[in-house]
Amino acid sequence: MFGKKKPVSTIDKDQLELIENAQKRIKQKKRLYIHFVIFLIGAIFLILANTVLGIGKNFKIAGIDWFVYAVIVWFALFIYHFISVFITNKFMGKDWEKQQLEKLVNLQEQRIDKLKQNFIKEDTKIAQTKAYNEAKDLPEASKKKKRTDLTIIVAAGEDNAIGKDNDLIWHLSDDLKHFKALTNGHHIIMGRKTFESFPKPLPNRTHIVITRQKDYTAPDGVIIVNSLEDALDAARYDKQPFVIGGGEIYKQAMPLVEKLEITRVHSTFENADAFFPEIDASKWLEVKRTTHDADEKHAYSFSFITYLRK
Ligand SMILES: NC(=O)c1ccc[n+]([C@@H]2O[C@H](COP(=O)([O-])OP(=O)(O)OC[C@H]3O[C@@H](n4cnc5c(N)ncnc54)[C@H](OP(=O)(O)O)[C@@H]3O)[C@@H](O)[C@H]2O)c1
Repeated sequence: MFGKKKPVSTIDKDQLELIENAQKRIKQKKRLYIHFVIFLIGAIFLILANTVLGIGKNFKIAGIDWFVYAVIVWFALFIYHFISVFITNKFMGKDWEKQQLEKLVNLQEQRIDKLKQNFIKEDTKIAQTKAYNEAKDLPEASKKKKRTDLTIIVAAGEDNAIGKDNDLIWHLSDDLKHFKALTNGHHIIMGRKTFESFPKPLPNRTHIVITRQKDYTAPDGVIIVNSLEDALDAARYDKQPFVIGGGEIYKQAMPLVEKLEITRVHSTFENADAFFPEIDASKWLEVKRTTHDADEKHAYSFSFITYLRK
């Protein structure tokens, strides 16, 4: 009712190529063999034509019968045929062609890589020049304004404790949600140790990692810089980049930021080994505070506090 099912070929492309190649080789060898047989018969015929039938009996070159030259020329042609079937094929066969092709492709790839690197270098130069020109053309007041949204975000105990053994000291799920909501879609600037405390980069944020190591590597998409200045430069097109820690980076960034998003955890942590710098009340103005009580999901009560530089 539905007709016969079409037979499906189970030979893949490579197998097919091997079969075609083998068939071609068989044909070439057959032709060589036929050439050899014809050459033998032809040579005998030429000899007989001259010696028995007397054809061209008197035609000699340098005292040698013409058929000797004819047989030698033919033999030379046969040798050429033989070489092209066996020797040339061995050195310039399919494998050789493949190797040449791979070499060519590699060369092209190297050239493309070089072009790409040059392109990235040029692109970086253009971006740097653009940033420089933008900054240069801005009046002094707006230059300062450019940095107004640079924000520190941190969760710190009453004693400013922020971490221990390169990890957080507490787990406050609502604070993580708060961090996620504020930093989502932004550049997050951090020290190498904080970066290494994450199991993997956080989604939907551009990570900028500061390290003094020149050959530090990180997964694709993570920007590595060697100074805080370079980190700020890398985040220059973000309206609100966040400095997310840890202790060393907070200390250096504190004089540069205009806003603090503090989660004040209402407890002290004696074993801590990383700390947030003291907030100088003469320099910072508290503009917002919401408090969260301790509950079954949160071992400590805490407050979200926003400060602006005075
Ligand atoms: N509670 C929170 O909100 C919070 C937030 C973030 C982190 N933390 C905690 O803080 C702790 C980590 O803080 P941390 O102070 O130990 O380390 P960190 O600030 O995260 O990283 C320090 C590293 O940053 C690099 N670095 C610092 N200043 C530099 C500069 N001027 N130029 C170039 N590179 C520089 C160095 O990396 P190299 O050694 O590679 O040169 C240095 O070892 C962890 O316990 C973490 O859990 C807490």
